[in-house]
Amino acid sequence: MSDEVVTNRAVTYVNNTTPATITFSKLDLKTCYKDSELVIEVHAAALNPIDFITHQLCSSYIFGKYPKTYSRDYSGVVVKVGKHVDNSWKVGDKVNGMYKHIYGERGSLSHYLILDPAKNAPITHMVEVPKDENDPYDDFVYAAAWPLTFGTAYSVLHNYKKDWGPDSKVLVIGASTAVSYAFVHIAKNYFHIGTVAGICSKNSIERNKKLGYDYLVPYDEGTIVDNVKKLKESELKNEKFDFIFDSVGNHDLFPVMDQMLRPKADNSFYVTIAGNEKANYKHISWVSFVSLGSVLTALNPFKGFNWRFAAPEPSNNFIEVGNEMIKNGTYKPPIDSVYEFDQFQDAINRLKSNKAKGKVVIKMK
Ligand SMILES: NC(=O)c1ccc[n+]([C@@H]2O[C@H](COP(=O)([O-])OP(=O)(O)OC[C@H]3O[C@@H](n4cnc5c(N)ncnc54)[C@H](OP(=O)(O)O)[C@@H]3O)[C@@H](O)[C@H]2O)c1
Repeated sequence: MSDEVVTNRAVTYVNNTTPATITFSKLDLKTCYKDSELVIEVHAAALNPIDFITHQLCSSYIFGKYPKTYSRDYSGVVVKVGKHVDNSWKVGDKVNGMYKHIYGERGSLSHYLILDPAKNAPITHMVEVPKDENDPYDDFVYAAAWPLTFGTAYSVLHNYKKDWGPDSKVLVIGASTAVSYAFVHIAKNYFHIGTVAGICSKNSIERNKKLGYDYLVPYDEGTIVDNVKKLKESELKNEKFDFIFDSVGNHDLFPVMDQMLRPKADNSFYVTIAGNEKANYKHISWVSFVSLGSVLTALNPFKGFNWRFAAPEPSNNFIEVGNEMIKNGTYKPPIDSVYEFDQFQDAINRLKSNKAKGKVVIKMK
């Protein structure tokens, strides 16, 4: 047996009737990768709702009986480099990225991640996060915490409306989410958008004011429609929004969209990353994602507004923008909590509580 055999521990499941569990496999570090691949020893991985959503939607009949590994975001150290890999990747490099997969045998909640850096973008060299002396987290924790959420927020702002400026007005439904945290920082510090208003729980208004929102209204006191109408009248000279971003899954504004969003002809957009219904994390079903109402909203060519469903797109180079903003101090990945690998179930439960303020990160070492 080779002297480089290691035990790879990963969090996996087979289908929605099997729990997430730690599984063990032997990995020969001399032979486990192709010439085009890197082996990364993962130091930290971050959870995203997609991780437990895909688990709960996984039927063995459709998706097979092999173990599927949790998570997408990671940070770690390169331990092996295939001979055809671009020479920008070297043994010892500290890297982070988003390993994109659906029901992959490989995922980032694993002590070793093998990937082809030319195909599995985004991957980047880690940058140092500016920290004060009392900062409780190391760079691996921060590096794992941002690619997916930052990439989603950047893609929403970059890929649709192209004429941002100080007069632009944006409304964020779900101002407290990790994606919206990135969104408001990118909106204000990178695209220099003049007005960003947000909707969150009344208890989160004080917290979110510090993130850069110009105005915040609650979703759990009065109605969203009334609260946004009042905000428009009192603070925005009754002007409509150029862009509405939904990061929770909501359709409250649909019946009054003509009063909220500027006309299509003005290049206005309504972009969701979570569909039009808030998913119940305790009971996730396909129906909440592909309800008749959502399908009609997506397909109806006569709807009066530009509706889009967005996802992170590595081709727009969001990873470089993220690195730049982290280095210049205009974005610091928000951390809700950090768990040891063996406590992965507590970490999943924390994210499922739907109360996390920032990323839930799992340390592998
Ligand atoms: N399409 C994509 O590619 C993509 C990518 C990333 C994420 N997503 C989706 O985007 C959503 C957000 O993800 P995330 O990781 O940023 O979430 P997250 O950080 O886990 O969001 C947690 C926050 O949601 C807020 N919240 C809970 N219920 C709410 C409600 N009914 N209305 C408004 N806010 C509510 C809570 O703050 P309050 O105190 O304000 O309630 C809580 O702090 C998820 O549905 C996720 O699946 C999609």
